[in-house]
Amino acid sequence: MTESSLEDQAVTQPRQPIAIIGGGLMGAGIAQIFAAAGHQVKVFEPNAEVRAGVLDRVRDVLKLVSGDPATVDRITVVDNMAEAVADAFYVTEAAPERLDLKRAIFAQLETLAPRTAILASNTSVIPITRIAEGLATPDRVVGTHWWNPPYLVPLVEVVQAANTSAATIDTTMALLRGIGKKPAHVKKDLPGFVANRLQHALWREAIAMVAEGICDAATLDDCVKSSFGLRLPVLGPLENADLVGLDLTLDIHKTIIPELDRHAGPHEFLEKLVAEGKLGFKSGEGFRRWTKPEIEAVRVRLINHLVAARQKTP
Ligand SMILES: NC(=O)c1ccc[n+]([C@@H]2O[C@H](COP(=O)([O-])OP(=O)(O)OC[C@H]3O[C@@H](n4cnc5c(N)ncnc54)[C@H](O)[C@@H]3O)[C@@H](O)[C@H]2O)c1
Repeated sequence: MTESSLEDQAVTQPRQPIAIIGGGLMGAGIAQIFAAAGHQVKVFEPNAEVRAGVLDRVRDVLKLVSGDPATVDRITVVDNMAEAVADAFYVTEAAPERLDLKRAIFAQLETLAPRTAILASNTSVIPITRIAEGLATPDRVVGTHWWNPPYLVPLVEVVQAANTSAATIDTTMALLRGIGKKPAHVKKDLPGFVANRLQHALWREAIAMVAEGICDAATLDDCVKSSFGLRLPVLGPLENADLVGLDLTLDIHKTIIPELDRHAGPHEFLEKLVAEGKLGFKSGEGFRRWTKPEIEAVRVRLINHLVAARQKTP
């Protein structure tokens, strides 16, 4: 079943009210997904300029994914948290990535949202257990790590913190499945959860190889895109290991694993590039030099690829 047919089916079922805290890039995208599945969504956004643009942002996404324009009618954008969460069944926080701010927001949510409401954080890397520290009801606090852009990337990592209850996890998994996402239960609250840990293990080795002059950055990216990168959408690494055989995998690891990069922190090559102001697209040079048309071409290529992948999602 495709994501859109799941959404069509979902709209026909009764849906619980949702609150989103922070209507920026992720908050607006998450609001769109819940609303597309038939939920009434209230978005709290404190910045007047951002607040005024939330629904236009959602309309742009709906055009991109050929969604129902009436989806925006189910989204209300408000300027105070109490109004957003008063009748919420489920709250998703998507405010800036600062521990002190998130802790203050969750302390407010505990008093403003119904006791039965689940309180989820979309933090990228902050342990959920730290966000929930000091709360009276940490059993209902959970991580839901959506990926950007939320309307094109199906995964949401559902992160179980030290005190998250089984019922909170079960409800979150069911809710996310019901709106057409692919939730993954992460049973330990570690920085980077599952997918970012894997992604950055790959980036660590990639940076080390370029730093050591084994190949240049463009060649390294081509090696990934033209080989195992092609298989990844249909074959995960452990499926791949089973496919080739664990005896072969063990033999390969005996030779390769001792050779892999072991830096305990960021590579000094990355630190040097940043110190030189080589920040990537935003400065025109990172691991490679980028012209404006090249940057635009990469962005278009990525969005087109993700839109096509979404249409093919089984
Ligand atoms: N951008 C990504 O690719 C991505 C991916 C996954 C997770 N995240 C995480 O999602 C969260 C939001 O990221 P974003 O990229 O949408 O940021 P953003 O800056 O686009 O949006 C954050 C919004 O929160 C608002 N805000 C500020 N203070 C607030 C408060 N006290 N209460 C409510 N809202 C407040 C801001 O005005 C802003 O509009 C962060 O924790 C981020 O790490 C981001």
